[in-house]
Amino acid sequence: SPTKKIVIAIDGFSSCGKSTFAKEIAARIGYVFIDTGAMYRAVTLYGLRHGAVQDGDVNEALLIAMLPEIEITFAFNSERGASDIFLNGENVEKRIRSIEVSDLVSKVSGIAAVREQLVRQQQQLGRQKGIVMDGRDIGTVVFPDAELKIFMTADPAIRAQRRYKELEAKGEKVSLEEVERNLRERDHADQTRAVSPLRQAEDAVVLDNSHMTLPEQMDWVMRRIEKITCAP
Ligand code: DC
Repeated sequence: SPTKKIVIAIDGFSSCGKSTFAKEIAARIGYVFIDTGAMYRAVTLYGLRHGAVQDGDVNEALLIAMLPEIEITFAFNSERGASDIFLNGENVEKRIRSIEVSDLVSKVSGIAAVREQLVRQQQQLGRQKGIVMDGRDIGTVVFPDAELKIFMTADPAIRAQRRYKELEAKGEKVSLEEVERNLRERDHADQTRAVSPLRQAEDAVVLDNSHMTLPEQMDWVMRRIEKITCAP
């Protein structure tokens, strides 16, 4: 039976289903799941609330000065089957998903000092292994020695469709064209930013889930996990 605890790093484009996949893996093998995008979103929310965003733009110096005031923690929510994120003790799991935060988070995640603080915390969270972490730089920067690195991708048109359905279900009024444009912009921003751009680690395995169901993705990953954890 599998005994060796490992680190599973999942990186990839927006709206590929990374978090759903990571959450499912963690539940299946009893690991902790950390959504690092939520951490960048929590810092963004703090900045919004404390005046580090002016005229729709992030005041970097101000936000950097606020970093020592920001404490991010996680607590397991059994209803959701995943950890909720807390900002200075307040559960902000829902608030960080707002359009306001989504529109600013790529700017915040481009600030080197923000990344340094969050990467340090992410490394702490994973130091005992037994963790599934999803983000953009997990296999390249946070855990370059992760035992399993997965790079997730899917056809942009299919990702836009999925995202559109999600937003529609939430009652948000957007067009498919708008969603697709927003996705392409985020892909571009993620891949071209100066610090820790999204890129595939050399030793990552690619998972293109354009035409895969979640159970098919789980079969795919469980085979790989068993191979690694059962190896002598
Ligand atoms: O995965 P997400 O959409 O919740 O991520 C929010 C933003 O944070 C997105 O702009 C990418 C960025 N991000 C990052 O730069 N590094 C990570 N490890 C995770 C997310």
